[in-house]
Amino acid sequence: MGATIITVDEFDYFVFGATGDLAKKKLLPALYHRFIDGQIPSAARIIGCARSPLDTEGFRALVTQALSDNASGPIAPASLSAFLALLVYQTIDVGNPSDWHQLVTIVNQTRDDRITVFYLSVGPSLFEPIVKGLKEHGLNHTSRLVLEKPLGFDLASATHLNNLLRESFDESRIYRIDHYLGKETVQNLMALRFANILFEPLWNAHYIDHVQITAAETLGVEGRGGYYDRSGALRDMVQNHLLQLLCLSAMEPPASFDADSVRDEKLKVLQSLEPLTDQRALDNSVRGQYREGDGMASYLSDIDKEHSQSESYVALRANINNWRWAGTPFYLRTGKRLRAKMMEISLVFRKTPHFIFNHVAAPIQPNALVIRLQPDEGIDIEITTKQPGHGGMRLHNTVLETAEAPHKANRPAPDAYQRLLLDVVRGDQTLFMRGDEVEAAWSWIDPIIAAWRDADYPPEIYAPASEGPRGAVGLMSKEGRVWREIQ
Ligand code: BG6
Repeated sequence: MGATIITVDEFDYFVFGATGDLAKKKLLPALYHRFIDGQIPSAARIIGCARSPLDTEGFRALVTQALSDNASGPIAPASLSAFLALLVYQTIDVGNPSDWHQLVTIVNQTRDDRITVFYLSVGPSLFEPIVKGLKEHGLNHTSRLVLEKPLGFDLASATHLNNLLRESFDESRIYRIDHYLGKETVQNLMALRFANILFEPLWNAHYIDHVQITAAETLGVEGRGGYYDRSGALRDMVQNHLLQLLCLSAMEPPASFDADSVRDEKLKVLQSLEPLTDQRALDNSVRGQYREGDGMASYLSDIDKEHSQSESYVALRANINNWRWAGTPFYLRTGKRLRAKMMEISLVFRKTPHFIFNHVAAPIQPNALVIRLQPDEGIDIEITTKQPGHGGMRLHNTVLETAEAPHKANRPAPDAYQRLLLDVVRGDQTLFMRGDEVEAAWSWIDPIIAAWRDADYPPEIYAPASEGPRGAVGLMSKEGRVWREIQ
């Protein structure tokens, strides 16, 4: 059965940074797809705001190109022109009062109770002047504000940003995007856990030996060297995406599926993370940096520097100190230029208390529940069964795949932004991070960075298209565990 499309209420979506990369690659194509699926009414407006001196026609031409480069599937001319009719462009230099007045004029062209969204698809240095500009011009009272990482660089800057946002917008109207939360399988993880009784009795330290969360990419830093080298993999991927996945995997069942109930439970997980300070941080983390090889450039030449201590790979071992998880470590790893693009959460179960098949069976794998985010979204259950046929009791590993895997149904999962952009219009904050979550995540990350810095802990060099630095293997093997293969 196909999804039910419910058209949202009319809205004005102001996209600051509308001529930038994120807008062209993700935001505008996402709005286009929701429009052609009938979810966006034709009276909605999408107002591109950027410094470039374009007019609406110029913006429509830019969007046409962006869609032809980034939309999935063929673009029908009639749908395209209907979509382009929603677009308006307003040049905005945040320091120029007359640009702001123009913006106010556009807002005032529609009814006061119309849903108004300001999406800041801009560098973090522009958050402050834009948010202050919105407040100064009275555009902050009923509108919604969307922004995404980097939400601070450490706890102090994240707190400063939160204070700034809260001076102008009520928390209930601030949408902090983590696009991983919009991925189809991440939402499916919540369905799996909280719409079924089957797994809950097993979802704890008594039955789960450890959890692995992997976000492996094949690409390098791809022209984002300036940003990336200041950030490194820990800030770029772990502070947000991987910790969010950890929260959803580890949290208690919320009282209901509403934004604050879910976010309260995620916050408790972040607050239960055992701090990794000083030597503990060094013992439980591995950093790596890719070298050149196989015709691919090294990290250093990608960022155009001779030296850098930043990591393009990080692996961590985290403990969650609460009743459910004490004794079950969570291993997180992410890196660029690895062997394959693979994002998954694996819950690896403990061995059976007594194994009765020793005389016939080759070693078997422990059971695992694998939530695959990419490339083939889906959920697998890995169990042991008897090999069919004669030859005695021979066992092998069998994978039970969920029928829902979107690629199996020939129905590619929609890009996360399609869901998230319209959740803002629907006023649903469930898949967005609350300010206190962001701060709690930084509180856990900051001491790790401090320990690396104080110990002058350099990244270990790894070969491109590999599984990452050898040290990461040691992080697991010292406890008798192995990483799942990156494939
Ligand atoms: C971004 C990071 O948030 O996520 C990038 O800044 C990373 O470095 C990207 O490549 C990965 O996203 P996805 O959706 O391709 O898994």
